[in-house]
Formats: sequence, structure tokens, C-alpha cells
Amino acid sequence: MLSLRPNAKLDKEACLVLIDQEQFKEKKVALNNTKIKDALRQISQLNSFTAENGQIFPISHNKTLILLVGLGKRSDLSLTSLRIAVRNALLSSYLKKVRDVEIVAHEQTESTLKAIIEGHLIGTYQWAKYKSKDKNDQSIVEKNVYLVASQRKSLEDAITICAGVNLARDLINDNADTVDSKHLEATIRTLIKGKKHISIEVLNEKELKAKGLGLHLAVNRGSLKEPKLIIVKYEGSSKKGDYTAMIGKGITFDTGGLNLKPTGHIETMRCDMSGAAAVIGTLKNVLALNVKRNLIFAVTIAENAIGSGAFKPGDVFKSYNGKTVEIGNTDAEGRLVLADAISYIVRNYKPGRIIDLATLTGACVVALGNDYAGLVVSDDKFSRDIVHSSNETDDRVWRLPSYPELKDSIKSLCADMKNVGFPKGAAGALTAAEFLRQFTEGTAWAHLDIAGTAFVDGSGRWYYGHGATGFGVRLLSHYLTNP
Ligand code: BES
Ligand code: MG
Ligand code: ZN
Repeated sequence: MLSLRPNAKLDKEACLVLIDQEQFKEKKVALNNTKIKDALRQISQLNSFTAENGQIFPISHNKTLILLVGLGKRSDLSLTSLRIAVRNALLSSYLKKVRDVEIVAHEQTESTLKAIIEGHLIGTYQWAKYKSKDKNDQSIVEKNVYLVASQRKSLEDAITICAGVNLARDLINDNADTVDSKHLEATIRTLIKGKKHISIEVLNEKELKAKGLGLHLAVNRGSLKEPKLIIVKYEGSSKKGDYTAMIGKGITFDTGGLNLKPTGHIETMRCDMSGAAAVIGTLKNVLALNVKRNLIFAVTIAENAIGSGAFKPGDVFKSYNGKTVEIGNTDAEGRLVLADAISYIVRNYKPGRIIDLATLTGACVVALGNDYAGLVVSDDKFSRDIVHSSNETDDRVWRLPSYPELKDSIKSLCADMKNVGFPKGAAGALTAAEFLRQFTEGTAWAHLDIAGTAFVDGSGRWYYGHGATGFGVRLLSHYLTNP
């Protein structure tokens, strides 16, 4: 929980005071709050607090524990490191059992305050559903944070947006067998229940068959779960048309299919629906923020399982738009479900632009690592808009090339195209995007390959702990609210 308050009161169990070295030297600390200033004067005499980045210094003041949080040199301080500092302070052992914390920052710009909000709401998110609690529970108490800042719509919105990010993370972190197509449909139906300007179309196995989404069906053949293409239409604008469609890859588990993934690559594959989760998190935010645009939210859900029913390498399947695809590798399944979803939406909803999000290729992780998602986009203006939202939100993207000659790399001898690129291993993120481009039919299109950024496998990165990051929700929410 996070709320804003106009003035520092020092009335909670603890108070974080965020200070950079310049402010500390100038003694220009904490909104001229005399209590905090007094406390600080004592410390500077002790000479042991230097406001270095990462330094956390406790002072007891009446009934309140004041934690001075050093931010280092102002010129070195990024919004990312500010988020990290807030997270580390809130998770520090000093505050383990503390529930109510006030946060005071001297710097009161909008971007700084937003970063503090995210440092709390994104930074202290923890996935603990399956950890048993005992009475000697050592886990960190969830906090009520009171941030000193004047009430502003933009800050309230930042708080709202973090809830969408954390919804996406919950969906990704939970078991693959729990978060199946039924669960995702129920989640969406709960979000849109009773809301205005909303309609939903769900294509279950029967409808996918009747309409001929043959690639989507092929991917799901080894699974006991039902495949679904779920499309939510939101008409927030008073004008008709000009839809922005967001399409998320929703592979609830990716075994690789008969081209089975080896140990070391398969363990985290419940994250293969992170694109769909980002779309659902954004849907939550759009409804909460009452966005005045026409939008389409689509998630393409299947499970890439093994078994005698599974689709096979070498076989050919027909897509919704009639093009045939030779299966070079059953592990290149994301582009198959997305291809059908893209052409279904292009033909039936005629959007002005499409943004797809997908944990699509290991090659993108090789190229860009875990900090930047790959962006493939059809034109420069669209690219600038996405990159702008990326820069503003810390959902980082890096543009990769796309050009007509790439089409040769996905040709097939027996079908219209193949689902893997040639030569093997060359620019896998680009050839995967090129495959998707074949289904866009000239619609403006941006593709985000989030294979590296969606999930942290390890103890944590930046201001994220282990597991899902919710990548894409902040970027999309910003893009849709800043026309
Ligand atoms: N879901 C994976 C991509 C992935 C890799 C996501 C690492 C998250 C982390 C995707 O379906 C996949 O398996 N892609 C293959 C494509 C190859 C067979 C052409 C890959 O990247 O190895
Ligand atoms: Mg795969
Ligand atoms: Zn996959």
C-alpha cells in the first residue's frame, strides 16, 4: 500500500530520508523539516554518515526510527539506482518487522517521485504463495508507505500502473498448470466485468478449428488443456476506429515440443506467457485509468507439450490467412500462435497498428541480454514513440533491423515458409520477427521480443527480486496514456 501526504510528520514507526551527497553537504535536507534537520546535525558531527550510494544509517528519534539513505553523488544518480536504493532500504533488516514507513525525499520532481513509488511497489514485490509461514517467520512484513509529496494525478496514476505490473508478475510466477487458458480467461473476465465500452470474443478449440487457425491448433496438439484466442475490444475514444492492437504470446508452458528443451532451458518456461501477462496487466491499467483510446487486447494461449498427439517436425500446417508453414522445429512455436492471431486480428478488427509482445527467441537473449528487449518495428515514427515510452518507464528496448531480403531466410522447399531461419543460428531474433511480418499484411507493427527481460532467473536484478518482472506493462501503459 502506498499513499501520498503533503508534509513530513515523523509519526510512523520508521522514516526513510533520501539524501544525495550534495544535499547532505549543503544541509539542505528533507523539506526543511526541523526534526529531521536536528537529527541530521547530530550525525554530521559524528562524521560517519557520508551519503554514499547504498549507505543506510539508522538514528533513533523519539519513537521513530529514522533511516538516512545515501544516494551518492547527484550527477551519478539515475532513476534506476534511485529505485534500487528505495528497494534496498525498505528490504533492509532495520525494517524487517516494521509495517508503517514514511518516505521523505528532498528532490520532488515528478520523475523522482515516480521512481520512489516504483522502488516501493515494484521493488518490494515478492512471490511467496508457496512458502509456508511459521511463527518464526523471517520474511519481510508488507509495508504501508506514506510518501511525502503533494497529491497529483500523475503520481496516483503511477501507483495504479504498478498494480498492473504486479498482476502480470503474479500470472507469470504461478504454476504453469494453474495459470492455464481457463485461468487466464477467468482473470480477463473478472477485470472487464461491469465495465463500459468493452466487448470480448473467445475462440476456443471449436472456433479455432471452424475458422482455420491451423498454426495455433498445431502447437496445442500435445496438450490436455484447451487452446484459446481471447480478444477484448475497448472503445475508450469518442471517435470511431483507429484501434491499437496489443497481442501477447501466451504459451502457458513451453517444453519445446518433440524438439524437447534440455535441462537448463526448460525450468523457467512457465514464463512463456509473459507477453500475454503484459497485455492483461495493461488491460487492468487502461480500465483503471479510463484511457480515451480505442484498443484491442489479445492473448493467444496454448501449451507446447509433448506426447503422441504433438505436432511433428517436418509436417506442414495451414495458417488462418491461407499460407502454409513447414515446421522446422517444434520449439519455434511462439511465432506460430502469434502468426494466426495477427492475421485474425488484421482481417477481422482492422487495427491502425499492432504491438506484439513475446518471449520469442533465445537468440534475442544472446544478442541483448536481460536488460533490453528487442524491438522490431515497421516505421521510424512508431519506433520513436515506443522508444520514448521505453525511456520514460525503464522498460528498456533496443531496435533491431528488419528488411525485405530477410524473407529469403525463412523459405521452405515444400511450403510457403518455414518456422525457423536459415542459416541455422544466424540472427534468430530477426528471422523470428520476419516470420511474424508475413502476417501483418502491411499494418503498422511493432514487435517486442521480451525473452530476456520478462523473467529473472536467479536472486534478483536491479530493483526486481527473483522471477517475473512485469516487463512491458509500464511501457504500454505510458504509450497509451501519452498520445
Ligand atoms: N520460448 C522460447 C524462447 C525463450 C528462450 C523464452 C529463453 C525465454 C527464455 C521460444 O519458444 C523458443 O524456444 N525459441 C527457440 C527458437 C528456435 C527453435 C528457432 C529458441 O530460441 O531456441
Ligand atoms: Mg519454444
Ligand atoms: Zn516459447
